[in-house]
Amino acid sequence: MRRISILGSTGSVGVSTLNLIEETLTPGVDYVLEALCAGRNAELLAEQALKFRPAIAVIADESQWPLFQDLMRHSGIEIACGIDAVEAAAGRSADWVMAAIVGIAGLKPVWAAAGTGATIALANKESLVCCGRALIERAEAAGGRILPVDSEHNAIFQVFETTQRDRIRRLILTASGGPFRGKTREQLKSVTREQALKHPNWSMGAKITIDSATLANKGLELIEAAYLFDMPAEQIDVLVHPQSVVHSLVEYADGSTLAQMGPADMRVPISYCLGWPDRHAWKAPAFDLRAIGTLTFEAPDEDAFPMLRLAREALTVGGLMPVVFNAANEAMVQAFLAGRIGFLDIPDAVAHAMKKAESPSMALTGNLGHDIDRILLTDADTRAELAGRCGASEAVSAATA
Ligand SMILES: NC(=O)c1ccc[n+]([C@@H]2O[C@H](COP(=O)([O-])OP(=O)(O)OC[C@H]3O[C@@H](n4cnc5c(N)ncnc54)[C@H](OP(=O)(O)O)[C@@H]3O)[C@@H](O)[C@H]2O)c1
Repeated sequence: MRRISILGSTGSVGVSTLNLIEETLTPGVDYVLEALCAGRNAELLAEQALKFRPAIAVIADESQWPLFQDLMRHSGIEIACGIDAVEAAAGRSADWVMAAIVGIAGLKPVWAAAGTGATIALANKESLVCCGRALIERAEAAGGRILPVDSEHNAIFQVFETTQRDRIRRLILTASGGPFRGKTREQLKSVTREQALKHPNWSMGAKITIDSATLANKGLELIEAAYLFDMPAEQIDVLVHPQSVVHSLVEYADGSTLAQMGPADMRVPISYCLGWPDRHAWKAPAFDLRAIGTLTFEAPDEDAFPMLRLAREALTVGGLMPVVFNAANEAMVQAFLAGRIGFLDIPDAVAHAMKKAESPSMALTGNLGHDIDRILLTDADTRAELAGRCGASEAVSAATA
């Protein structure tokens, strides 16, 4: 019987994970829930907690505490509130942890979970982008491991022959291209928040949906892939594949390229992580290549969508530059979602922040990942640098507020 925790249980990935668990596992026989953690959706968290009966349920947002207490009254379930309580719950002993908090807010909880020896199904790519290999090393040193939930990395994980790693020429991440594929920079000037939130293939949380529209998501994934698979930036390519059927590929030196395919449904990679090292049987949606018919691939347009190039630059510079890339993007996406800035302000501000960070005062030493405080300080500095561009509220890091 496994002890399971879900960090970010009220979000898109968190809800899918609970659905899969409910559909395929027997409570008290296959699993018990240790912790459920959420940001501010007290009603949904309480509903989940009353149904799944975790040992503890934690709400991060203190303004939701009175409501959460009220909803959980007489439940007999331990409850807590605040970002420190989320971190503490993430650090409780568990066998399997779904890390699905969005953004830098997931960093400390993921770091705490990595210290427990649990198997971590990692959706919160931002924590890996900021910590780098140190996060993977921490999990492994504690006797656990990181399994990638992101569909692209999960695909690569499935076809990456670890014994043949010196025969791997390239990792190829596929990208849907998002809702604005084919648009010029000029046309992108006038796109709206509502248009950006309409992803053609995937149903996801707001932040990652905007990241998909700017291609920042693919940039974060490029960095994530480099750390997860220990591959240099030059050996990772991106191909736009609008059908989102091939989730990613690994090219070998003998001319073979292995790909993983499947429906555009996050429950597929989540179920892979839930079952690993076995295949988890569930009522997966039908996958009919005849109905799909044609698969197409094209190069990304890095002039119109510079976030991919900026992410590659951040990875190549190394040190704390991926933290700068991530923080600048996160602050600007929050401002875009709040209606305060335009779509193109996002890449423009990220480029600005990275340029500023090149100054010696940022002390980019390359010793990334061993100092969470330093990562959070860089995150806060980057947000402060962009305060005038995005509005004061985004200048405060979600992880330190
Ligand atoms: N959605 C996908 O298909 C997908 C695919 C690949 C990777 N990912 C990655 O998975 C992560 C989650 O994405 P998502 O789409 O599921 O996002 P989402 O729908 O916005 O959900 C985010 C979750 O994080 C919670 N949260 C926010 N701040 C928190 C805090 N300080 N402490 C505890 N919980 C907090 C939210 O709680 P409240 O809602 O209660 O505020 C919610 O449960 C992201 O890093 C994303 O890049 C997502």
